[in-house]
Amino acid sequence: MEEGGAIAFVPEALCLLGRFLFMATDREYMQRALDLAAQGRGRTSPNPMVGCVVVRDEHIVGEGFHAKVGEPHAEVHALEAAGDAHDATLYVTLEPCCFHGRTPPCTDLIIRHKPARVVVAMPDPNPRVSGKGIFQLRNAGIEVEVGLLEDEARRLNEAFCKHIVTRMPFVIAKCGMSLDGKIATRTGDSRWVTSETARHMVHELRNEVDAILVGSRTVMLDDPSLTTRLEVGQTKDPIRVILDADDYLDPRARVFHLESKAPTWVVVPDNRTVPEANETLHIPSGPGGLDMRHLMCELGARDIVSVLIEGGGTTLASAFDADLVDKILFFVAPKIVGGRDAITAVEGEGVARMADAIALERMRATPVGEDILIEAYVRRD
Ligand SMILES: NC(=O)c1ccc[n+]([C@@H]2O[C@H](COP(=O)([O-])OP(=O)(O)OC[C@H]3O[C@@H](n4cnc5c(N)ncnc54)[C@H](OP(=O)(O)O)[C@@H]3O)[C@@H](O)[C@H]2O)c1
Ligand SMILES: [Zn+2]
Repeated sequence: MEEGGAIAFVPEALCLLGRFLFMATDREYMQRALDLAAQGRGRTSPNPMVGCVVVRDEHIVGEGFHAKVGEPHAEVHALEAAGDAHDATLYVTLEPCCFHGRTPPCTDLIIRHKPARVVVAMPDPNPRVSGKGIFQLRNAGIEVEVGLLEDEARRLNEAFCKHIVTRMPFVIAKCGMSLDGKIATRTGDSRWVTSETARHMVHELRNEVDAILVGSRTVMLDDPSLTTRLEVGQTKDPIRVILDADDYLDPRARVFHLESKAPTWVVVPDNRTVPEANETLHIPSGPGGLDMRHLMCELGARDIVSVLIEGGGTTLASAFDADLVDKILFFVAPKIVGGRDAITAVEGEGVARMADAIALERMRATPVGEDILIEAYVRRD
């Protein structure tokens, strides 16, 4: 126990120092490890994406990544490929694990291979690791450096980093809107607000997240399938979660008649069961309808690490009101819809004072086809 407390500050201190000490080649090898890690995108949940590179005499002698939950960790693949890692340097995007989970601890394996040095991009926020992996490696006489490309590593695993500490999913609010903020016309027509390129990107997002959340009106008006449709490679559908406070859903809706490995869950505030759903989630009512925080806790407890809210405006508003959104992805189309009755991206009551508006940070605009993707994080001070 004392061990954990005593070393808790070390990764941070070293990370600051490390940023100035790492060599250009260290950076390249870690970048390679990050690129490898990203190959596990959408497949490792609830585990993080991790990449590992073994370098000896300035040559990569082994590399690997965590491809799927339950399968070997990145370090196992990389060390296996290297064969002999004696005196080598191991680059790994996340602190190696030091406990028996679904697989044995990577620290034991690394220590057996006797590398001279291990470079770690970021400490593992998992309370079961949290510096203890680094401690074990150092204790075995291995030189360990922490903090190389740490920001990149954190961004890659932003969803994991939140869930492993809070048990709450990382929530992304997504919408496609006109330049004047409308997500549909006054008649509810929303096909299509954005270009095909933007919509393709949404399918890539669906391929990465664990669950997708929409309101009942979106299901009834748009009749979406909410599946992942990409031409290349193996794709996976996210679990579909639909809010239905007032028994508004039609059993004939497309989401109930799909050929999909992922289930459709309907969330209700009463003791009603929705027979056409794979499961009905009973969540109590909060101030503005279903208690969204309660729902997210339930999803987090089911190891759902990331949730993509795809609207509509009422559903997005209830997530913002409950302070559940971590990141926004708003695609802005070069068109004006107009109409005071046309639905906007975030409906609900809204705030009374500008000072109470939800503040965003790290905002970035990227052209996507003829649209612009606005990406930002909700600021929490
Ligand atoms: N462009 C885009 O990106 C985009 C994306 C999605 C949708 N849309 C458009 O948006 C429109 C629908 O948006 P909308 O705002 O009318 O509806 P919505 O958000 O799709 O659905 C609203 C309904 O969801 C349920 N709901 C949401 N939050 C809830 C909460 N906290 N507690 C309980 N129930 C909750 C309620 O169901 P009950 O009615 O059962 O009470 C509510 O009436 C459609 O026209 C669609 O085409 C556009
Ligand atoms: Zn491991």
